[in-house]
Amino acid sequence: MELPFSESYKTKMVEPIYRSTREQREAWIKEAKYNLFKLSSDKVFIDLLTDSGTGAMSDRQWSAMMVGDESYAGASSFYKLKDAIHDILGFEYFLPTHQGRAAENVLFSVLVKEGDIIPGNSHFDTTKGHIEFRKATALDCTIDEANDTQLEHPFKGNIDPVKLENALKSYGDRIKFIIITVTNNTAGGQPVSMQNLLEVRRLADKYQKLVVVDAARFAENAYFIKKREKGYADKSIKEISKEMFACADAMTMSAKKDAIVNMGGFIAMRSKELYQQASVYNIMFEGFVTYGGMSGRDMNALAIGLDEGTEFDYLDSRIRQVAYLGNRLTDFEVPYQRPAGGHAIFIDATKVLNKVPREEFTAQTLAVELYLEAGIRGVEIGALMADRNPVTRENRYPKLEMVRLAIPRRVYSNNHMDVVAVALKNVWDRRDSITRGLRIVYEAPIMRHFTVELERAI
Ligand code: F0G
Repeated sequence: MELPFSESYKTKMVEPIYRSTREQREAWIKEAKYNLFKLSSDKVFIDLLTDSGTGAMSDRQWSAMMVGDESYAGASSFYKLKDAIHDILGFEYFLPTHQGRAAENVLFSVLVKEGDIIPGNSHFDTTKGHIEFRKATALDCTIDEANDTQLEHPFKGNIDPVKLENALKSYGDRIKFIIITVTNNTAGGQPVSMQNLLEVRRLADKYQKLVVVDAARFAENAYFIKKREKGYADKSIKEISKEMFACADAMTMSAKKDAIVNMGGFIAMRSKELYQQASVYNIMFEGFVTYGGMSGRDMNALAIGLDEGTEFDYLDSRIRQVAYLGNRLTDFEVPYQRPAGGHAIFIDATKVLNKVPREEFTAQTLAVELYLEAGIRGVEIGALMADRNPVTRENRYPKLEMVRLAIPRRVYSNNHMDVVAVALKNVWDRRDSITRGLRIVYEAPIMRHFTVELERAI
């Protein structure tokens, strides 16, 4: 008999979590203005708000924390991380930052000017925020297949080369670089194929542009290439990762995802000139070039996290857990972005709560219902997050209106996934009784979803 699949690690330390009653949750979510970011974590039973910084570090990572070098300049921890980035990702130069958006802030201070256009697959919200803050435009060239949640496509995160080339032709010098996010978080944690990366590189060379990879979940992307793309089955995740980055001139990394640390990030690049230009901003915004917002111990843990995060057995456990949740939802007929993503399941909210108008934030309404049902916290990826057009101030309605259930790395068991699946099934079963959504009482001028205050629309 074939042995069943199981995790490639065991638990050494635990943290209790508590169930609450529906009455308690009714009061708490109202107090939190129907914004799940405003809930304190002790009011959450299973926290799928994000996979960012929420992973469990290994014993190897924790022991490396004890020998961090906290020297201001030239710490050995910096060199350990530099070596790991060189060996695993293949970049010569790097700058540490405190997290991914800080890397964007520093790099875009060099690369983005007012009026620029930055094409790519779906830009993450902070990436878009940093672009729009500089009065430039993020142009989404993701393939159209990504907008049909029920369509199975192995690389739904891909950039459409035709859309990209049209942009390159139309905008000329207003485009300095192309950004590829692996995996494509916004489109559902969907991977980008190696063939697509090579095609983008070819177009970048033809039009003399730089390619920047937003690498938050590069290892999960490499796993999907190994599993789904012809010619990669026998290559290691590390080999595939190197090949992916060979298509890029520079990268930004939120290390809180695939490097399995609670805080940290970096920029890496091939060009000494770009490194020197970015160093100026790194020193101003983050810290000196050999620590940039991270302590030595954190750089040690990050160096090991890059190694562990690119091990096949770990990735297999991780991505199969996400698929497990997806399969349970398939059994219950709950619609989600197919196939299951690398880090999360994205529920197609407009297909679940089809009576709630989008003006009343369908996905946010579903996220609130799931919280009320079982204390599960997901996050809205829809009209609330899409925010207003910075020029016209009109609400933007993206093609997809989803609730993301992001699975922290090495944290929850498949029993937790069963609770999530059944809670969603219960909401699904009573979907016809949910007809009204939410309305905004307060919103910030940019990235409003983090601090928005809402009330019931009736
Ligand atoms: N790029 C991508 C693709 C991301 O998913 C994130 C963060 C960032 C950049 C920014 O990194 O948080 O370290 O500053 N994503 C988190 C999420 C917050 O929940 O998806 P950061």
